[in-house]
Amino acid sequence: MRLLICTAGRHGATHSLGQEMGRVFEHDGVDVDMRAPESVTRVDGYDAVIIGSAVYSDRWVPAAKALVDRVSRSDHPPVWLFSCGPLHSSDRPVNVISDAAHAVSVLHAIAHRTFPGRLEPEELSLGERQIFENSGAVAGDFRDWVLVCNWAREILACLTAGTPGS
Ligand SMILES: Cc1cc2nc3c(=O)[nH]c(=O)nc-3n(C[C@H](O)[C@H](O)[C@H](O)COP(=O)(O)O)c2cc1C
Repeated sequence: MRLLICTAGRHGATHSLGQEMGRVFEHDGVDVDMRAPESVTRVDGYDAVIIGSAVYSDRWVPAAKALVDRVSRSDHPPVWLFSCGPLHSSDRPVNVISDAAHAVSVLHAIAHRTFPGRLEPEELSLGERQIFENSGAVAGDFRDWVLVCNWAREILACLTAGTPGS
């Protein structure tokens, strides 16, 4: 089995979630390609594609949106989507991300999941820091590796059972 994982973000948290999923898949003998969305023009030859984007001001990162558009214009294997954003534990409600909803719709994605992210103020640009300081959000590392690994295992179980899309 061969899976493609593409993540788009600004400060590495989204990529780290994709890497962790990749480790779960590889541990179970799956071939994983992790590629930047910009470098992907074709997805044939993969058994599944996982696309993840960071969320900034309620939007997905442009590179992730552009990949969704490219993939949606071709035949493609089953797609799973995730967003990386909320700066709190995931048992609180999160905003509906319209770009994610659009991606689910045009790709007929099997599922979309939102995972808590990470924010370190010293890594932010001036503009980002201003938005962050006015948002009332709390800085820190809220990534939940158990949630991420469990989701990867769910994807794998679905693919192994041959039930994507059912
Ligand atoms: C300027 C700014 C705006 C943000 N806006 C949102 C938002 O609208 N919704 C959300 O859930 N998280 C938001 N976040 C949190 C980021 O999504 C979070 O830090 C994420 O882990 C970043 O991923 P990255 O390191 O891959 O870029 C924002 C962070 C910054 C700095």
